[in-house]
Amino acid sequence: MRKPLVAGNWKMNGSRDANRELLSALQAELAGVDSVDLAVCPPAVYLAEVVDTLSASPIAVGGQDCSDQASGAYTGEVAAPMLREIGCRYVIVGHSERRERQNEDSVWVAAKYQAAQAAGLVPILCVGEQKEEREAGRTEAVVSEQLDAVLDAAGVESFDHAVIAYEPVWAIGTGLTATPEQAAEVHAFIRNRVAARDPRVAADLRILYGGSMKADNAAGLLAHDDIDGGLVGGASLDAANFAGIARAAAGAGE
Ligand code: 13P
Repeated sequence: MRKPLVAGNWKMNGSRDANRELLSALQAELAGVDSVDLAVCPPAVYLAEVVDTLSASPIAVGGQDCSDQASGAYTGEVAAPMLREIGCRYVIVGHSERRERQNEDSVWVAAKYQAAQAAGLVPILCVGEQKEEREAGRTEAVVSEQLDAVLDAAGVESFDHAVIAYEPVWAIGTGLTATPEQAAEVHAFIRNRVAARDPRVAADLRILYGGSMKADNAAGLLAHDDIDGGLVGGASLDAANFAGIARAAAGAGE
């Protein structure tokens, strides 16, 4: 049985005051919600403070990106061992906003994934197609390329210590959520692709959905067997909304 995970990707949002307010509301809303793993991924500058604020909470903390290098002359980058040292458990790698704006390709993302695991972090590997790719019937080809780069570089067993997030790019920040059927179809495809290499690893692997997930559409998505939680953007900045998703995931996991 896979325990659901709901992670909030705050993206480039927040301030010290706003973070404190959000975390305190979140802890109040989530008191007593178990059967689900929870995490927040704030911007890098706030990570240490957020880890500190959540020190007595079951809510874990993750970075939004890491370097593929462990240390050295890489101005502006944050290394995975640094994230681990300050108390992060997770790190997002390969988010579509970075694939697009920073031109991260799948080989680079695989190197980040490996750097994260070498530092003891659990990478949350994002995959997903653009609108034009879906319309051209290329969703499976795109997701396969993104997934295979990591499977080839790191090996299937590495997915014992990783999470995948399927995030259709056309659903991110658009309010256009994938239907539960659309999402479930790709989740099953991803699981089968991992299963082709190792069925046991695939059966234990958590595959999250991301893209305009909200408290009011989460239950429908999470009702599908292959959808093991969410990577939540906009709604993670609102305590009641994020907690609603967490409760839906806890309910679906029971
Ligand atoms: P939204 O929930 O704002 O669509 O963002 C999803 C996402 O990109 C999470 O990483």
